Amino acid sequence: MDKKVQLIYDNNTYEFPLVEGTEKETGIDIKTLRAQTGLVTLDPGFKNSGSCQSEVTFLNGEKGELKYRGYSIEDLADGADFLEVAYLLIFGELPTQAQLEKFQSDIHKESLVDEDLKLILKSFPRSAHPMGALASLTSALTAFNPESVDIDSDQDMYEAIVTIMAKFPVLCAWTHRKVKGLPLNYSNSSLGYVDNIAQMMFRRPTENYVSNDIVNRALNKLLILHADHEQNCSTSTVRIVGSSHAGLFASISAGISALWGPLHGGANQAVLEMLEAINKDGGDTKKFMAKAKDKNDPFRLMGFGHRVYKNFDPRARIIKKSADEVLNELGINDPILDIAKGLEQEALNDPYFVDRKLYPNVDFYSGIIYRALGIPTEMFTVMFALGRLPGWIAQWREMRKNNEPIGRPRQIYTGQVDKVFTDISKR
Ligand code: SDX
Repeated sequence: MDKKVQLIYDNNTYEFPLVEGTEKETGIDIKTLRAQTGLVTLDPGFKNSGSCQSEVTFLNGEKGELKYRGYSIEDLADGADFLEVAYLLIFGELPTQAQLEKFQSDIHKESLVDEDLKLILKSFPRSAHPMGALASLTSALTAFNPESVDIDSDQDMYEAIVTIMAKFPVLCAWTHRKVKGLPLNYSNSSLGYVDNIAQMMFRRPTENYVSNDIVNRALNKLLILHADHEQNCSTSTVRIVGSSHAGLFASISAGISALWGPLHGGANQAVLEMLEAINKDGGDTKKFMAKAKDKNDPFRLMGFGHRVYKNFDPRARIIKKSADEVLNELGINDPILDIAKGLEQEALNDPYFVDRKLYPNVDFYSGIIYRALGIPTEMFTVMFALGRLPGWIAQWREMRKNNEPIGRPRQIYTGQVDKVFTDISKR
């Protein structure tokens, strides 16, 4: 018997079906609520509302679990290449060696970006935030690759996927080079996906490029950890923009802007700025903890808390361990890491944080590794976007393949009513 819930309203009883997922989460299907009852629901921030059914990623916030297409984030972060994980998220299965090689080869074929895009980058001041430049450059891809995706053509969809997978890292690397005032590098088709990203970001024209295995392994792990995360703010943005049948590149450009916010992907930059402020202030973590708990102070402990995880963010555990390894391998002793660990320990023993189930999230330690790799703070969220790209693609593709309706939430109007217009001469 299908499970249902009952709603009693205005002396009537209504029934709504329950939907159970493969990980046993259960939701109330309210697709007929307004038609049956005239009622809508109200849920600012969608804290209790599911926007879709999805096969891509699953989080268990209470247990601190994250799985991409059923594979645990721990297994993928330890054993996979980022491009393998991108293939898994987008196409639903881990690739064979032959499938991965073809994917990489097809991406290399698309890795030249129209030279005129450099003119757009050149028009930005050096002081422009890289996320603003990246969102503009990504949207501009539509101008240089105008053919819209025929969602019913697997070939069309595949070509759009390899195009954005190829050109997006080039644009990300270019924003890094712009920040550093360095000449722009081209993609190198003899390198793997992550090594090529490192090459485009770090290769100096005056020297031969030598791959750095420590850097590549750290980048590979960070990109995997950021690759997807259910219906977070930026992914929901990509989905809702795409639901109007706007193109893939335009939808991803919108997602980049959503990710930029300090409450979302911009938090990794805000965490480093916070830790540097604490360090500059003599390392007085207690002062900043008090600020974070003071309701009259807008300051938040950046990198702490999460809408879904009410336990440890599994990605934060992995990144914290990796931060120790990378700094040791690079021979770096960064006082910021010690401050971060001290802050974490204080918060994990402070009733304000414990009662609210506020734990370190993915953004708390990631910046420490990026900094050790020589990536400037303002580039941290670009690195987040570089990792999240396959997740955005996978979710956009699923939304279009499922022929989801255009996203258009309802509201409860609380404004003035029955106003009588008076001519301006009488106001
Ligand atoms: C990401 O959704 C995703 O999956 C996102 C992400 C992904 O991979 O896509 O995981 C990436 O965005 C991680 C989150 C990065 N943001 C930050 O680190 C910014 C700091 N964190 C907070 O702003 C906050 O925790 C959010 C935005 C992450 C979550 O906010 P919610 O779920 O809306 O929770 P809330 O603001 O209602 O907070 C509940 C309580 C409040 O106190 P009370 O009103 O109950 O007294 O906890 C407090 C908040 O004031 N609180 C914090 C806090 N986070 C929440 N207090 C101090 N410092 C914090 N960081």
